[in-house]
Amino acid sequence: MNIAIGSDHAGYEYKEILKECIGGLGHHAVDLGTAGTASCDYPDFAFAVADSVAQGKSDFGVLICGTGIGMSMAANKVPGIRAALCSEPLSARFSREHNNANVLCLGARVIGIEMARELIRAFLSGVFAGDRHSGRLKKIEEREHGAG
Ligand code: RB5
Repeated sequence: MNIAIGSDHAGYEYKEILKECIGGLGHHAVDLGTAGTASCDYPDFAFAVADSVAQGKSDFGVLICGTGIGMSMAANKVPGIRAALCSEPLSARFSREHNNANVLCLGARVIGIEMARELIRAFLSGVFAGDRHSGRLKKIEEREHGAG
């Protein structure tokens, strides 16, 4: 799968490590920046990754900032994006199984790099369970499109 990945300065070092983790899992990491530790604005990278996923250029996205909060707030403004901010594996797994999340957000100042790796593995191996969860997601989608 193609996995779009982006960070701001606070998540840059994690991004570099997690690209290797994604490659090691047999996927292709598509790096959409930032390119270093110079201070920058997280929405620029959240939108780059979210647009890539929403437009079908990438299968999933991974976003890293200091807390993961700003990235998740920005990514969830893009229609079609279901971004999940996770700090432990159960949420990462269920974000796929129950919420059909398509972007994983991580906080580099909140979790350690080993936990970040574990969350990537849990997220990318999760499968949406459909069934009752589909109707719940449809309600979010209807709201997104101005109905409901
Ligand atoms: C940058 O200092 C920090 O605000 C950012 O990485 C992120 O945590 C925002 O949510």
